[in-house]
Amino acid sequence: MDKIVNLAKRRGFTFQSSEIYGGLASCWDYGPLGVELKRNVKNAWWRDMVQARDDIVGIDCSILMHPRVWEASGHLAGFSDPLVDCRACKARFRADHLASSQCPLKPSKTAGQFEKCDLTEARQFNLMFKTFMGPVEDTASVVYMRPETAQGIFVNFKNVQTTSRQKIPFGIAQIGKSFRNEITPGNFLFRTREFEQMEMEFFVKPGDDDHWFDYWTRTRLQWYVQYGIRADRLRLRPHAADELAHYAKGCADVEYNFPIGWSELEGIASRTDFDLRRHAEYSGKDLRHFDEESREHYFPFVIEPAAGADRATLAFLVDAYDEDVADGEPRTVLRLHPALAPIKAAVFPLLRKDGQPEKAAMVYDLLRAHFAVDYDQAGAIGRRYRRQDEVGTPFGITIDHQTMQDDTVTLRDRDTMEQIRLPIDRLVAELQQRLAAPRTR
Ligand code: GAP
Repeated sequence: MDKIVNLAKRRGFTFQSSEIYGGLASCWDYGPLGVELKRNVKNAWWRDMVQARDDIVGIDCSILMHPRVWEASGHLAGFSDPLVDCRACKARFRADHLASSQCPLKPSKTAGQFEKCDLTEARQFNLMFKTFMGPVEDTASVVYMRPETAQGIFVNFKNVQTTSRQKIPFGIAQIGKSFRNEITPGNFLFRTREFEQMEMEFFVKPGDDDHWFDYWTRTRLQWYVQYGIRADRLRLRPHAADELAHYAKGCADVEYNFPIGWSELEGIASRTDFDLRRHAEYSGKDLRHFDEESREHYFPFVIEPAAGADRATLAFLVDAYDEDVADGEPRTVLRLHPALAPIKAAVFPLLRKDGQPEKAAMVYDLLRAHFAVDYDQAGAIGRRYRRQDEVGTPFGITIDHQTMQDDTVTLRDRDTMEQIRLPIDRLVAELQQRLAAPRTR
């Protein structure tokens, strides 16, 4: 993880929030390359989950919602973690994570392992961030920063269905920020207090839920493989009955083998009709679906694949990180899937003379109309390749003396390091084809 964090900082993927003021713990800003990478992750999800399907539509809800939403959803009463304080060192731990939590005292031991450790009884701590709407800070004006994007989808179920004329089964997808006042955030982007979720609620006929749960667990696991994560570093872990959330009939996590061990990347939950029923009860509105064929009213059941955009970005970074030897020199390379890579191709004039920079600038302009591209003429060509390899740029295009004679360039592949020569006027089509080609590892 340290290598990933260092690379991310050094090359402008992420910076600590408010760094010049000493930083704000567990909050991260995405730099120029990071924002492209994370945007590509979200775009891939949106394209595959919404745009490429007839049965899912999108939504973008506000972060602040009516406080009754959180009563109905159960978050106000039950969205809490058990908190334990140490009277000796003043550290705070999640009671259910004691075995994997570090005590701040040295030599390093887990929480509660020193003789002088003095842990309190566990008490429940609600994870929702509270704030006030309007100028008066009283109980009547309390609102919460949403802890999940899902509830915006449930409360808009009727609005979306009637305006999009979708028929069951169909889904509503949303990408957006969520906030949780986590007791023990950490491990870089893995657990933060402000993060982005990519959630989809799929509404089905009661009785069809097991079929769709199976469908979505398989589909979501495969999605990560499709974008280059090695299949042997992914697994599905069904939840045991005592782990299930209050609303869930079943749940399976897509887990990734992070440097911190196997951990949740995405959860797929079978939520029954809990949410729509509760919102109908608390709002007094009829949220049942009318089935035209059977002429029945019913509350649809829900299957929910819920992913984290930051956690997925971290998994793609971790999985892509590699060190090997290129042209006799050690190199660091991010083997990112081309669809996710922040920069798709870099253009290099071999020499800074003989018209090569001008020709390279022309090629750069040609390509940037289609892709995110970079131009680099500084330093030896080998070093320029290394710089791009390290940030995952899949293709390098070099303009050399032959280009000046016959308008051909070399195209280098980041992973195989193979180079082919092709005419400039075939470059766009060749890159389009290579970027669209399936590429699993
Ligand atoms: N609506 C269901 C729900 O929110 P969740 O398992 O609590 O389920 C879904 O969250 C996903 O959101 C997780 O699998 C993870 O990828 C991401 N996530 C949750 N808490 C997070 C945190 N504190 N920091 C970063 N990502 C988080």
